[in-house]
This record gives sequence, structure tokens and C-alpha cells, in this order.
Amino acid sequence: MSDVLYVNGRFTTTDERVLGVEDRGFQFGDAVYEVFKFVGKRPIFLAEHHGRMERGLGEIDIASPWDLTRFAAVMRELLERTAFDDGIVYVQVTRGEANRVHFYPEGMTPTVVAYSRSFLFPDAAAKERGIAIITTPDLRWKQCQVKSVNLLANALAKKKAQRAGAMEAVFVGDGIVREGASSNFFVVRGGRVITHPLDEHILPGVVRDQAIGLALAAKIRVDERPLRDDELFDLDEAFITSTTMGVMPVVEIDGRIIGNSRRGEITTTLQAMLDEVEARA
Ligand code: PDD
Repeated sequence: MSDVLYVNGRFTTTDERVLGVEDRGFQFGDAVYEVFKFVGKRPIFLAEHHGRMERGLGEIDIASPWDLTRFAAVMRELLERTAFDDGIVYVQVTRGEANRVHFYPEGMTPTVVAYSRSFLFPDAAAKERGIAIITTPDLRWKQCQVKSVNLLANALAKKKAQRAGAMEAVFVGDGIVREGASSNFFVVRGGRVITHPLDEHILPGVVRDQAIGLALAAKIRVDERPLRDDELFDLDEAFITSTTMGVMPVVEIDGRIIGNSRRGEITTTLQAMLDEVEARA
């Protein structure tokens, strides 16, 4: 027997499998997601995104629905069916659907959704201009290495940034600057790049990893260490990294100007290097 279901302004029944209303992704945020970029229908860093999703699924006890070969094949077909050439793909894997009780049944079938979206990546002018950011207390759960869909704290922080005329909010917890609401955070001081080490306080960003590798390749010293919030007062450069923003200069933090409000040298170098890697990816 099907139940009446209200969905987005219309009534249907629970037979219609748009997404089950008792899908645990919807009710418990019991899911992980990925966002990857594609250019000219070429997925960028696909294996890295798949690898992170696999690790996340493992950490929250969801069986992986696909190995890399199958994942790549599905994504290729999705992109072939997509009408535009450049954009992002959003992938979500939830634990699946079951009667709403907190303890989940064993052996559930995950729900898997993926869709492509066109996306306006920052152009050369935007990448030179950079962005303003704010700092905000880290109110997230304590397993931020998992790319879970529990993004309430992130969404609220991001809105706070927007209301302050900024583009990103960077989380500070226990006096340490961790990462952005949807990006990783880096600073440059005395020719060295500093970013938070990989642990449960940050997402292991795909572009973070690239940026570190590229900096090392350019013989720039990288310190993966906790950055105290008072160190934000003494910076040469700052930037964030993410799939959608690439390497994006930060020219203002909490209303204070960084580096004369200009994109820094190391940031510029890393942007150029990332462009090259993406062109070859
Ligand atoms: N956000 N940290 C957080 C909390 C993120 O949500 C993201 C990505 C990153 C950067 O990761 P990557 O370099 O792998 O994109 C760091 C994606 C883009 C999003 O939620 O839309």
C-alpha cells in the first residue's frame, strides 16, 4: 500500500521513487557526497574524488555502491548525456531507505544520485581580484574528514559571510584556523605556505592536495600545521582552495586587508600551475 506523499507543492504517492521520504539521507543526513568539475566533458580528478568518497563511506559504515571502473563509466555516460561541456557533477550516496529509526538495518541498499550542473567557474579577472572572508566559530561535528551531507553549520556560516559582504567563512576552533565552509584555507608568510594538517577537523580537499604538491614541486616550503587565529594578523598572502574556486586569493579577512588587497606571488604561481594540471587531467 502506498501512502500519500507531498513533495514540492504537489501530491503523489510513496510509489513514486523520486527519493523515498524515509531515505536516511533526507532524514538523518546519513550520506556522503562529492562535487567534481568537468571541462570539455572531461572529469577532473575523478579518481581522487572517488577515493575520498570510498573512504567516507567506509568511515560511516555504508557499503560502497561502485568501484572506480564502474563509477568512471557511469560518470562518463552522465557527461555524454549532458547538454553542456563544462560544469560540476554532484554525487550523493545515502545509506538508503528504511522505516525511520535511528539504528539502521544491516545490509541496506544505498541510494545513489548524481546530476550535472552548468557552473560559472571564476574567470581570470575574478581569480586576480580575490575574495573577502570572515572567521566564525566552528560549530560542526567532529568528523569533518568525512564529506557528509550534514552541512547546516557550513550553510549558516556561509550565509553569515554573505551578509557581511564576504564570500567565505573560515572556521576557528580552540583558537586554530581550520578550513572554510566549502574550501580549505592556506596562508603564506615569509615565503612559506601554511595550512591545517589532515585530521578530523578538515576535509582532505582534492585541490588542497594538488596545491601542496604543486607548491613542493615549485620548491616552496609547505608547513602543514595548526595556524593560531592571532597569526592571521601577520600574513603576506592567503588563499582558499576548492573544486569550484580552484586556488582563490583572499584579500580581506574580517575587514582587514591582506597583502595590499592584491593577489600574492605564491598564490598566482599556484593558480597557474593548477590550470596546467587541470588542462592535462
Ligand atoms: N566543497 N572543505 C569543505 C568543508 C568543503 O565542503 C570543500 C568542498 C573543500 C574543498 O574540497 P575539494 O578541493 O575536494 O573541492 C574543503 C564542495 C566544492 C561543495 O561542497 O560544493
